[in-house]
Amino acid sequence: MIPLKRRKVVPSAAGNTGNTGSEEPLPQQFPQVVLFLLERKMGASRRAFLSQLGGKKGFQVEELFSERVTHVICENNSGDEVSAWLQSGVGGRGRASAHLLDVCWFTESMRAGRPVEILERHKLQQQTEEVEAATFSTPSYACQRRTGLENHNAGLTGALSLLAENAELSGEDGRGVAFRRAAAVLKALPGPVTAATQLQGLPGLGGHSLRVIKDVLDTGASAEVEATEQSERFRAMKVLTGIFGVGVKTAERWMRDGIHSLQQLRDSGRTLNRAQRAGLQHYQDLQLPVTRLQADAVAAILEEALEAVLPGARLTLIGGFRRGKLTGHDVDFLLTHPEEGREEGLMPKLVSRLEAQGFLLYQKTTRNSYLEAEGGPARPPSSMDRFERCFSVFQLAQEAGAAGAAAAAGAAGAAGATGAAGAAGAAGAAGATGAAGAAGLKPWRAVRVDLVVSPFSQFAFALLGWTGSKLFERELRRWASHEKTMSLSSHGLYHSAQSRYLRASSEEEIFAHLGLEYIPPSERNA
Ligand code: UTP
Ligand code: MN
Repeated sequence: MIPLKRRKVVPSAAGNTGNTGSEEPLPQQFPQVVLFLLERKMGASRRAFLSQLGGKKGFQVEELFSERVTHVICENNSGDEVSAWLQSGVGGRGRASAHLLDVCWFTESMRAGRPVEILERHKLQQQTEEVEAATFSTPSYACQRRTGLENHNAGLTGALSLLAENAELSGEDGRGVAFRRAAAVLKALPGPVTAATQLQGLPGLGGHSLRVIKDVLDTGASAEVEATEQSERFRAMKVLTGIFGVGVKTAERWMRDGIHSLQQLRDSGRTLNRAQRAGLQHYQDLQLPVTRLQADAVAAILEEALEAVLPGARLTLIGGFRRGKLTGHDVDFLLTHPEEGREEGLMPKLVSRLEAQGFLLYQKTTRNSYLEAEGGPARPPSSMDRFERCFSVFQLAQEAGAAGAAAAAGAAGAAGATGAAGAAGAAGAAGATGAAGAAGLKPWRAVRVDLVVSPFSQFAFALLGWTGSKLFERELRRWASHEKTMSLSSHGLYHSAQSRYLRASSEEEIFAHLGLEYIPPSERNA
């Protein structure tokens, strides 16, 4: 596919500029001119070709947008679109005085072998007519954008996320991803959308998503979203898959047998596996959001246990909390040891100690089946079971204040769920009142904790891969394979064209390998 596309693009561009195929790059000749080619609408392959051409002609061409850039080269973009893109800051900050130019200035300069004088016809056309609201613009991949926790379009993203969730609960993952991508684009916008016309040219907005957005903008709600939210199937699937250890397939099977609620599940006498039994037993606690304070309390327990079983081992908070979220559905940690190989056997030792200390209500350790290639990130092919993962449920003692807050949240959750979650809500409320009534306060709560061990040589990849968000991760991998012919995982980065692994000891290095601007964890909330 790609070579065909390139063949189409290269001759036409080369025709404009003369054959430059075998020329050596000239030394940079125009220090006062720093070019940046906007990929939007130009496309990645044409951008790469033109950038290379510029370099050969002695121009400085920047891969990333920055203060250094003096000339922004665009193709098929209006001045307004590019201004909006610059103002949004999604591609990085630049200088206000940068020239916004059509690609014709670039091709003429290439032909002339020097930067030609900027004429009126080279400048991007700014629309002079009054537009009600500015058009938004954003790069295609979520991993090219900064997405903080703040979202100016929560109503719209909430609607799209609900449809994504419904698609996922129906086993339609492709449709789910499409809705998640659309929501992620809106999350990255610098302000609230007030009219659908502002969305023209934005990536990732398919017909279905646009229809939902228009409905919400026009009428304040989407009939489809409301119907989905109220549907018996959606509600029941949410309750059942809300049980730790229950996936879509299992929930669907139960639904077919008429099980729609926790009570019906209990009454059915179904055989549940160990995870599901724990999930059902601690259902109400596990529905409560985990606070940052509670995450830190788990971290302190783990630090103490690690120090005892493997001094020098390192613990890093990953997942949503690393992205700055204030609450989560679980707490995720990455473990490693700076001496390669010392992490082997760490998980069983750690888990035994935690178990002996009475911290674990449930745990299941899985061995990683990742098979590394020769010359891979760290290890010979014989070692295929090192990246271990432990799914667990912690019993976390509560401070009086924290317990009170949790009980209050539980009561509020149950009240909000009347009808919505049916038996689940009722069961939750009963549990909360019972515990609170007996002792005044429940002395502990159950918390989901995920542990992952990585060899030190793969730590940066594991850190990047487990920090999320899920969509950000998916987009990083899509970028790597579609734009760079590389393959990214939580273990390493494989350069397919060069048939080798690219090493990295920090997330920054991985972004650099991928040709992406570094996005810090707090801005990966896509
Ligand atoms: P989580 O599901 O815990 O999501 O996965 P989260 O972002 O922390 O959100 P909450 O607050 O708990 O709901 C954490 C990250 O770990 C990676 C995903 O990339 C995700 O972003 N992950 C998770 C995997 O790589 N594989 C898995 O099987 C699960
Ligand atoms: Mn998490």
